[in-house]
Amino acid sequence: NPNLMEALVSLAKRRGFIYQSSEIYGGLNGFFDYGPLGVELKRNIRDCWWRDMVHRRDDIVGIETSIIMHPKVWEASGHVAGFTDPLVDCKVSKQRYRADQLFWSPVVVDGKVAGYVSALESEKTAEDLQAAAESFKRKKALQGALAPVVAKDFTEAAETEIPLIPSPATGEPGSLTPPRAFNMMFETNVGALKDASSVAYLRPETAQGMFVDFKNVIDTTRVKLPFGIAQVGKSFRNEITPRNFIFRSREFEQMEMEYFIHEHADWAKAHEEWITWCEKWLKSIGLPESHLSRYAHPKEKLAFYSRGTVDIMFKYPFGVQELWGIAARGNYDLTQHANASGKPQEMFDEATKKKFVPHVIEPAVGTDRIFLAVLTAAYAEEDVKDEKGNVEKRTVLRFSPRIAPVKVAVLPLLKNKEQLTDRAKALYAKLKRNYAVQYDDGGAIGKRYRRQDEAGTPWCVTIDFDTIEKPGDTFTLRERDSMSQKRITEAELFALLAEQVY
Ligand code: GAP
Repeated sequence: NPNLMEALVSLAKRRGFIYQSSEIYGGLNGFFDYGPLGVELKRNIRDCWWRDMVHRRDDIVGIETSIIMHPKVWEASGHVAGFTDPLVDCKVSKQRYRADQLFWSPVVVDGKVAGYVSALESEKTAEDLQAAAESFKRKKALQGALAPVVAKDFTEAAETEIPLIPSPATGEPGSLTPPRAFNMMFETNVGALKDASSVAYLRPETAQGMFVDFKNVIDTTRVKLPFGIAQVGKSFRNEITPRNFIFRSREFEQMEMEYFIHEHADWAKAHEEWITWCEKWLKSIGLPESHLSRYAHPKEKLAFYSRGTVDIMFKYPFGVQELWGIAARGNYDLTQHANASGKPQEMFDEATKKKFVPHVIEPAVGTDRIFLAVLTAAYAEEDVKDEKGNVEKRTVLRFSPRIAPVKVAVLPLLKNKEQLTDRAKALYAKLKRNYAVQYDDGGAIGKRYRRQDEAGTPWCVTIDFDTIEKPGDTFTLRERDSMSQKRITEAELFALLAEQVY
């Protein structure tokens, strides 16, 4: 579906999954709000992660650290000096771009290269380039002002000094400034004084909280190596080009875990085990294997702290992109904090009677990125027959019951028959104690099913005349994906939920 992204954005808005932040004021680029269905979905993703990562394991504990930390944390971690993206300004359009997301493509007019258009990383299909070339032809004067760079890929483009040469169309010099380093941390001031001494940062990752509290955790719990510390929380990055909806935003949520291992442990093995764990987990919340792949960062391109990083990639509507990064960080962070604070960050090895600094494997993922992946994979449009046999379109979100915002909808067949509504309300009240449930008595039953399909509700139970007139107190259970219906008792319904919503 070439319009999948538009379809997702529109459904997300229409059904209350995601809104633009501050929409009545025109929105704020890179910030989003989650609506009533969205907040449930996001919470379920986070809760499933927490249950599987922390509650269901014996070797991992959770913490929650503050968003604003001592500014020295970010000096020690390397973020003050190194957490930058290469930025270029276009002097004509006044737009800013991340240089590593731009590349330049030749535009052929009348068989000759007339100039180059810049395109963003996500616009690299033939159609995108064709469209860009068309627009180039139309807006020669403006586009000609772009400095042409021919690069075989984004990395090369980012590393190329952009030459200022006259455009073939206008004779004007090119207009992109050379790339410069732009620090992505948001700055603020703590306390009443606004000067250099009060500068602090909104955290750009949750990970440093785990490193800085490492000693506290080992001193106050009974953890033994190997063990992990997990945290879920907001992170902030002043991204130069926030884009692709919630994929890259300026305020987002991370779910990170630091898994500490002995300095002589087989880190490559632990790394591989965590990559596999993450892949399995993604499948457990309904992401299909066909959309998942791995990308191992080449050694020379690794982040400053990393010995090896593998990203789990997801096939988003705008291309295959990073979903979850699993990095082997060595003992970089603990060593940095020990040096900067003067407080050793060590453990005692009973076998060798020596102190050592543990190494760490870090699976780090964005909740919002999982949200978008889940939405992408779940979305389907189908032709189905209505009660009269007419073909109509149904939009359905095939969420896994684990994360579906609403687990069951309770529907009395008619809203003005007390016997039906009484039974429906009693069932609703009972379900509500354990599950997110909706009661819906508005409109024809087919319409109500469609409404729930669009919200991704796995099951509808209809309280009909057989419920009240026939023995057995059974309801019609309608299944979202197959649309099949069968009769079910209350006990069977609770058993089904207990099995599927885990
Ligand atoms: N502690 C390591 C770390 O933060 P990262 O690769 O920069 O590593 C980890 O971020 C994950 O956080 C990414 O894989 C992605 O899922 C998510 N993430 C990063 N930047 C994001 C952004 N601007 N918007 C949404 N999610 C983001």
